[in-house]
Amino acid sequence: RTVYLNGAYVPEEEAKVSVFDRGFLFADGVYEVTAVLDGKIAEFEGHVARLKRSLGELGMSMPVDSDELLAIHHELIKRNNLQEGAIYLQVTRGAADRDFVFPKEATQTLVLFTQAKDLTSEKAGIKVISIPDIRWGRRDIKTVQLLAPSMGKMMAKAEGKDDAWMVEDGFVTEGTSNNAYIVTKNGKIITRNLSNSILHGITRAAVLRLAAELDMEIEERPFTIAEAQDAAEAFITAATIFVCPVVEIDGAAINNGVPGPISKRLNDVYIEEAR
Ligand code: PDD
Repeated sequence: RTVYLNGAYVPEEEAKVSVFDRGFLFADGVYEVTAVLDGKIAEFEGHVARLKRSLGELGMSMPVDSDELLAIHHELIKRNNLQEGAIYLQVTRGAADRDFVFPKEATQTLVLFTQAKDLTSEKAGIKVISIPDIRWGRRDIKTVQLLAPSMGKMMAKAEGKDDAWMVEDGFVTEGTSNNAYIVTKNGKIITRNLSNSILHGITRAAVLRLAAELDMEIEERPFTIAEAQDAAEAFITAATIFVCPVVEIDGAAINNGVPGPISKRLNDVYIEEAR
């Protein structure tokens, strides 16, 4: 693969970052993952807006402007002949002698790479477990501090399941790397309202817009695992999975263990629009 590092396109083996990089030492950096479908970038503006916001919340600015970022995305798609998959982007505060205090002068590290992935084949639906949400209080910032979600996913795998929904004060916050939804028996889509407790998913915003256009009813509020287990349907969204049905929650089958019609419809409509 050809990757992008600080202004240069280089073979991945040659892309080197300092051991003093604050992304490495402090997880002092943010990231974005954007889907590529038929060589086209999905929801680019949304991802850039969130990147700007994440950086701003950590006292950083954009390393390059939005137009240049778009050009880098296009160049990487071309150089790697990416048809379907993801582009990963990371910005860190850069390299400086180790100190908790932010360095006065450091040059940000900007890295982008592609990952070829099948994003569009029919989804069987995933099984989730619930786990306590042990992450920090600023989950609205997309930082590279991902050990809690990574451990959560491992706990699910250890039980033979696919993913975990994280619970705080009795309510689901989100999935380890996705937003969580249920559909009530009378067809209303429920997903947690935006706050510092969850990541403001770009796919979430797009799917809620599409659902409203389809005259589906939406309610943004927290829900419990018990309510989810009793729901007609459940699903998750993220940039690289679009709308993925959830067919089991803590051992309880949802929609008899098969993907429900609303999650399927939203996934189809999302892909149709992205193509
Ligand atoms: N994860 N919530 C969390 C905690 C996430 O990490 C993600 C994305 C989402 C969905 O956001 P979006 O729709 O903007 O992708 C929600 C990415 C895909 C990842 O870490 O790989």
